[in-house]
Amino acid sequence: MSPRPVRIGIVGGGLMGRELAALCGRWLHLAHHPVKPEVVAVADPNPAARDWFRSVPTVTTFADDWRQLVDDDSIDVLYLAVPHNLHEELYIAAASAGRDFLGEKPFGIDLAAAERIVAAVESSDAFVRVSSEMPFFPGAMRAFSYAASGALGDIIDVRSQFAHSSDIDRTKPSNWKRRSETCGEIGVMGDLGMHVAHVPLRLGYLPSSVYALLDDIVTTRPTADGGSVPCDTWDNALLACRVPASDSSRGFSMLWETRRIAPGQMNSWSFEALGMDGGVRFSTRNPTTLDRFTRRDGEQVWEQVQPGNISGWPMISGGIFEFGFADALLQMWASYLAEREGFLGAGFGTATPREALDSHRVFAAAVRSQSSGRAEQLP
Ligand SMILES: NC(=O)c1ccc[n+]([C@@H]2O[C@H](COP(=O)([O-])OP(=O)(O)OC[C@H]3O[C@@H](n4cnc5c(N)ncnc54)[C@H](O)[C@@H]3O)[C@@H](O)[C@H]2O)c1
Repeated sequence: MSPRPVRIGIVGGGLMGRELAALCGRWLHLAHHPVKPEVVAVADPNPAARDWFRSVPTVTTFADDWRQLVDDDSIDVLYLAVPHNLHEELYIAAASAGRDFLGEKPFGIDLAAAERIVAAVESSDAFVRVSSEMPFFPGAMRAFSYAASGALGDIIDVRSQFAHSSDIDRTKPSNWKRRSETCGEIGVMGDLGMHVAHVPLRLGYLPSSVYALLDDIVTTRPTADGGSVPCDTWDNALLACRVPASDSSRGFSMLWETRRIAPGQMNSWSFEALGMDGGVRFSTRNPTTLDRFTRRDGEQVWEQVQPGNISGWPMISGGIFEFGFADALLQMWASYLAEREGFLGAGFGTATPREALDSHRVFAAAVRSQSSGRAEQLP
């Protein structure tokens, strides 16, 4: 059976919009995928952003207003990748028009926006998911499966982290991600929070309370014309969460860490879960291995496993090869489009709107905790 064509329109032709166009160009890396996506349209008010897509042969629509794509019935799927202050209007319009879409995180600038977006999605027939690609690293998938298998026994501690140093250079000019008005009061949690929330929430680790330490480290940044503007978003966030006891597990502590200024880190996502009987840890910093903890013959043993190049959707590249960021994005799209087509089966799915909403509940409690100085319950 030949793969069914899926026509994609991109709203926001910046960093992430380009990544999608590029990965569609290497879709042949996937073996026997049921669909063949092609980017046919881009909407961006910035002509230079649109012009980048002129080298993508399948793109025939270049719009300066996203409404043209939302109204275009020849488009099957939208990818919405715009600054956070624009999520609410755009995502609600797309859902209300019944458009299937993959929306970038954080899925609304704050909790109230996320609630309105998720209400619109749930009252529509649109197939909607949220972008979060890091769990598609083979080592991350193995860590998820091991934690989900029950092999950890009673869970003691979980730590989910995204640490990079994109902002360690004080002379880096400001942009929309450094302003509360466009990035959101949640700051770095809006940029990186969904990445640390996805795997824990999929495992059912939903916090009931949060104690937060939020840091605004670089408080002004230069502008392109040589001036200086306030940089009023949180750079780093350390959330100490309590996951309550349930029928199947004891309560335990969980750290979510998101850092734009983590000296020594380039762009590392990591997940670690430790229990009385077993444990697992994986970091994209050392993507070819994951560590598993067991108790064996009276010893406490950490063993190293090589997950190979085996992620969710089979690839033509051999299983011994090495995997990277662009592969994780390809796998996330393979998962989204297969699930939309009804072909994902028990495979790992892209983050859901409900998971995005739960992540916002944690971030809202974190902002309240920062001002009260106390642990705060989730709203
Ligand atoms: N999944 C990931 O790993 C990842 C990484 C980076 C950013 N993101 C998310 O992707 C989204 C976009 O971030 P980015 O880094 O691509 O930003 P970016 O600044 O590189 O690109 C955003 C684009 O949106 C365009 N835009 C602005 N207003 C618009 C409008 N009204 N209609 C259409 N386009 C408009 C801008 O001109 C720009 O080209 C954000 O939600 C961000 O959190 C996700």
